[in-house]
Amino acid sequence: MYIARTLEELRQHMARFDQPAFVPTMGNLHEGHLALVRHARTLGDVTVASIFVNRLQFLPHEDFDTYPRTFESDCERLQAQGCDVVFAPSEATLYPEAQTFKVHPDAALADVLEGHFRPGFFTGVCTVVMKLFQCVFSEARGQRHAVFGKKDYQQLMVVRHMVRQFALPVQIHGLDTERTAEGLALSSRNHYLSAAEKQEAIQLSVALKTLAASVLGGEHNLNALEHHAAHALAARGWQVDYLTVRRRADLQPPAPNGFRAGELVALGAARLGSTRLIDNLEF
Ligand code: PAF
Repeated sequence: MYIARTLEELRQHMARFDQPAFVPTMGNLHEGHLALVRHARTLGDVTVASIFVNRLQFLPHEDFDTYPRTFESDCERLQAQGCDVVFAPSEATLYPEAQTFKVHPDAALADVLEGHFRPGFFTGVCTVVMKLFQCVFSEARGQRHAVFGKKDYQQLMVVRHMVRQFALPVQIHGLDTERTAEGLALSSRNHYLSAAEKQEAIQLSVALKTLAASVLGGEHNLNALEHHAAHALAARGWQVDYLTVRRRADLQPPAPNGFRAGELVALGAARLGSTRLIDNLEF
């Protein structure tokens, strides 16, 4: 497995390949990331993962400084999956000067849900993803692939929208969320949970399932359902940012009685102790 630290190293190495399949990550890899890498291996003629904790997508009070950096074990795990190339630039390499040009996504998609609670998050994500695409794909002559997890559902939608609007020659693949046997969505931030919190954390996916089942069961007063779901989690000690049912197509609230199963997604974000978790369920 080749490890590139600079753009020059990466581009020189990538010039040998035609169809890269790319998995962007911030490291601290878990089985969810590895499933993305395994899928990427089926797509192109070279599999690339990036490891870069992107300061631009963290708010000042968030966990940028303490975000786990586990480079050695990440590389071992990537190698075991058959990843060919790791791009691990330093901040000075990726942002050699203040990144004043940024990609500002459409507010209707990016200022709701996660974007509402983490203002600027999707600008940070789009800017780094655009930049990583320029680094990883600049030498490619054939089809370029990038693989993202549906765990970050809104991120996947925003990236797809960016790729469409800028006509980027990149095919985006969204993969289902990997979960523990109990149903907890795998996340780098699960690492912050105590053993007792890990048990409780499953309740976020339970709340989403209950929400979806109620809608499928014919209850169409979404405001009341969402309110009830948030109240039930709060009663267990969670601080709920949102628990909501949206249209998959644009993440807007569905019109009352104007929706069908197969078009919706339940999304949630809530804090358990000091750890903020997100999850979603298509239905
Ligand atoms: O999903 C992530 O880990 C990050 O948001 C990403 C896509 C690697 C951009 O920093």
